Amino acid sequence: MRVLTGIQASGKLHLGNYFGAMKPMVELQEQHELFTFIANYHSLTTSKDADTLRQYTIDAAVDYLSVGIDPNKTTFWIQSHVPEVLELYWILSKFTPMGLLERAHSYKDKVAKGIPASHALFSYPVLMAADILLLDTEQVPVGKDQIQHVEMTRDIAIKFNNEYGELFTLPEHLVQEEVATIPGIDGQKMSKSYNNAIDLFMDEKSLQKRCNKIVSSSTPLGEPLEYEGDNIYALASLFLNDEEKLELQARYRSGKEGYGHFKKYLKELIWEELGEAREKRAYYLSHIDEVHDILAHGAKKASAIASVKMEKVKAAIGL
Ligand code: ADP
Ligand code: TRP
Repeated sequence: MRVLTGIQASGKLHLGNYFGAMKPMVELQEQHELFTFIANYHSLTTSKDADTLRQYTIDAAVDYLSVGIDPNKTTFWIQSHVPEVLELYWILSKFTPMGLLERAHSYKDKVAKGIPASHALFSYPVLMAADILLLDTEQVPVGKDQIQHVEMTRDIAIKFNNEYGELFTLPEHLVQEEVATIPGIDGQKMSKSYNNAIDLFMDEKSLQKRCNKIVSSSTPLGEPLEYEGDNIYALASLFLNDEEKLELQARYRSGKEGYGHFKKYLKELIWEELGEAREKRAYYLSHIDEVHDILAHGAKKASAIASVKMEKVKAAIGL
């Protein structure tokens, strides 16, 4: 099964991204032919300057490689290094009714948040369709907010196929339902825009400081604590199996420990979980040429598929 997904590079990654997006993606490469790219053409729609976009792009590549994208299993590249996608984007525009784009929630949400309403932002779903259709993708793992874009991709592909022949594979979206919303230190959805995130790669002291800021109730030390609804417990349980969760519940109920202890415990869990990723990250950051080589190799592989596809598409439409 060919699975493809794009990663928007937009700064530091946090535990919500890790459990909601990165870990599930890394697991997919064990069973499927995974294609993953850093969607820097897409990020351009919200980018403010060249250096930041460049930095976010390479940071995202390093972070994903560090948490386990394996370049021997996964084709991993930077979107703009396979420019065929822009050629297809234009061609697909002809098969994209205005009404389809006008119904896009994501565009309306972004404009409501103050992002300037450019043509690139409006036609963002067509570029995403090009990403998906160029490589004959069968499944697209996405967050719920992106399902509509995959449905639009199908509509565009169907319209093309009806008019010019069955050239495009119809993709399906793959939503990891079981990934719950990871809470931030204030109990709301963890998000970089809410200032409540626990970043993945902090030094140990800063990580403890961040954990200490988690909001919990004010039960005095010595009294049993309620674990249900507690933010420290909710975050810690992401790292625990059923047995370990029961042990932690017992510690909460015993009344012998206070929130301070559990904040220390949570810091340990996070620190340990990311130990290997931290080592890899330090390695990649000091061997950045290797990262560029991996991405170049991925681009070459993706390009080989893309150029064959583009020849067929162009022949079919008379270019
Ligand atoms: P942010 O809200 O910090 O801007 P993004 O929207 O960039 O995060 O999310 C990138 C990916 O991480 C998406 O696939 C999203 O589903 C996942 N993700 C982000 N925050 C969370 C969260 N709190 N819980 C679960 N998944 C999350
Ligand atoms: N739009 C996606 C997001 O914001 C990123 C993306 C770009 C993508 N192209 C894609 C995802 C193709 C899946 C397939 O998260």
